[in-house]
Amino acid sequence: MKNVVKLLSYNTFIPFFYPALMLPIRTWRTKAIKMLDFHTGDRLIIPGVGSGHDVSAIPNDVRVDGVDISDVMLGIGKLKLKLFGRDKHVTLSKMDAEKLSFDDNTFDKAILSLFLTVVFDAKVAFSEIVRVVKPGGQILIFDHLLRKGDVPGVLAKPIDAVLSYNFASVTRMLDDIIEGHPVTVEKTVKGDPMGFLKGILLVKH
Ligand SMILES: C[S@@+](CC[C@H](N)C(=O)[O-])C[C@H]1O[C@@H](n2cnc3c(N)ncnc32)[C@H](O)[C@@H]1O
Repeated sequence: MKNVVKLLSYNTFIPFFYPALMLPIRTWRTKAIKMLDFHTGDRLIIPGVGSGHDVSAIPNDVRVDGVDISDVMLGIGKLKLKLFGRDKHVTLSKMDAEKLSFDDNTFDKAILSLFLTVVFDAKVAFSEIVRVVKPGGQILIFDHLLRKGDVPGVLAKPIDAVLSYNFASVTRMLDDIIEGHPVTVEKTVKGDPMGFLKGILLVKH
């Protein structure tokens, strides 16, 4: 029930204009993903993978598991992987990222792109990621998250009052989401020319 609006929108109208929205931030996304220190054979998880916009920035020798709740976003992603010959290294599955069916300490890396602002409960989803990433593993967040002391824009709170529990939130705070987890923020870069988005590199210890 909690994901009903998200499922409706990501399975109907969003996939039509999504590629046009993603195009302007493509180079910024790639720059953020490059903060990850990939090694041959690494396992990477992408919760809320959507139609796979992160995948082109990931080396071919990394094994990727992307999960999402939207059949349409996953379907487009699978088609793109096949077209670009990436379907051997990347597996896309339907799964709720708040209840991952992977064992503890399975992955070396995680990419959370435009996901923590969208998922219903960002704290639960983040705990799941911390659970499945190995100690020493890296977690890359590419999103609009506030830091302690940041003041949300004038329109952010009214927009959030309407949208946050059924679609997306623009007032979530990184510090609240990661609180109590064995992670450290290693580096933050701008995720677009205005700095609305950020690339944030975390390490699990
Ligand atoms: C804004 S899109 C981002 C897609 C992709 N990560 C990107 O950067 O282009 C958010 C995605 O999160 C997915 N999503 C939302 N809640 C989810 C959940 N609980 N589990 C898995 N995926 C979820 C949506 O279906 C959607 O595809």
